[in-house]
Amino acid sequence: MSDLLGLFPPGSTVDEAGGLVIGGCRASDLAREYETPVLVVCEPALRARAREYATEFASRWPNSRVVFASKAFPCTAVQRVMVEEGLGLDVAGGGEIITALRAGADPALLVMHGNAKTDAEIELAVERGVGLVVVDNGDDVDRLEATVPAGRQQDVLVRIIPGVTADTHASVLTGHEGSKFGLAPAAAVELIKRIEHSPRLRMRGLHVHVGSQILEVGPFAEAVAPVAALGEFEIYDLGGGLGARYTYNDHAPSVAEYLDALVGAARSQLPAAAQLIIEPGRSMVASAATTVYRVVTVKRGLVTFVGVDGGMGDNLEVALYGQRFEAGMVDRMDASQGRPVTVVGRHCESGDVLIDGVQLPDPRVGDLLAVPVTGAYCFTMSNNYNGNRRIPVVFAGDGDSRLVVRRETWDDLLARDVG
Ligand code: LLP
Repeated sequence: MSDLLGLFPPGSTVDEAGGLVIGGCRASDLAREYETPVLVVCEPALRARAREYATEFASRWPNSRVVFASKAFPCTAVQRVMVEEGLGLDVAGGGEIITALRAGADPALLVMHGNAKTDAEIELAVERGVGLVVVDNGDDVDRLEATVPAGRQQDVLVRIIPGVTADTHASVLTGHEGSKFGLAPAAAVELIKRIEHSPRLRMRGLHVHVGSQILEVGPFAEAVAPVAALGEFEIYDLGGGLGARYTYNDHAPSVAEYLDALVGAARSQLPAAAQLIIEPGRSMVASAATTVYRVVTVKRGLVTFVGVDGGMGDNLEVALYGQRFEAGMVDRMDASQGRPVTVVGRHCESGDVLIDGVQLPDPRVGDLLAVPVTGAYCFTMSNNYNGNRRIPVVFAGDGDSRLVVRRETWDDLLARDVG
């Protein structure tokens, strides 16, 4: 039981009746009030993590900035928390610029990414005063030169392929040779020269990102050398990628361990006066959120299937990346674990499995099931498969809760049909 509780946000408890409590709120009360499925974010845990990142980074490298990778949880309420905690925001594309500004972000603290930025996105970034545009390719430079008004200069970083791999799912590796993101060092040298001679652009530094859900610190440190080899710049953005602990058996490095390795490599290879930026996404938000589902059916046979009222409409991590999650029964967190079951979603394909083989104490129809560590990319990739209404986001903390994103309605599903 304690092991299971350890996957929930820090501060989560189990009450006298064996019920799960998150942010001081009974998960069963949240399910009653907001209905299921619901994505519950423990706001104090989110804020604490943002502060931990900022403090640990600044203590190792004072001229540093933490920029939250909005893509990991791109809703204004989460972006607003990061802004309030003094972080910048990484925005990938126009939509995340719009939500970041709605969240109150200072445009000067935005870092814009994209391997295929459109004219409209570049125009939006320039018009709204996005602080740093990360140039991925020569076409970005053409577009920026055509967009930045005379007399102004847009600050840019150039994204480098470090040629580093890591032990993670192939779909979320980005720093390997042949990656679609950024430029190999030799090609980058040419583009940097062009930018340095451009009256509309200001070459500020380099960017690198190895990949996501990386549970070892070595690859982050390794990516510094190829960047350092390109010369001295004012800013080095060393990306995100630190993995989260999803399961009992995962061992994720702490923020301190990750920064020891990263800043250690920077200290020996990058100019001491440079500004360092990091862009954590997953490790900032993953463990702050929990999805609460209601059990709709329990079907016993060769396998016991526990069917819940959500699935791949609210969590694509399993189907796309084979991510393993754990789960507990909201009202029986103290029960000893029962027989292995397979938790499946309600969508029309066999791939809609939430957890293949998890021990649950006698799950019954109507029970509530809590899946921890769903804060990263689940909201991002939620979808309308089978007419799914995307699920609400509720912030819980200090015994109170509030709705920050409402559940979609049937009307929402029809709202875009104009013909
Ligand atoms: N910076 C850049 C340029 C990135 O592309 C990413 C993530 C990050 C930072 C943040 O990385 P993190 O700290 O979250 O690992 N859709 C996948 C995840 C893709 C990650 C894309 N890039 C998923 O659902 O797991």
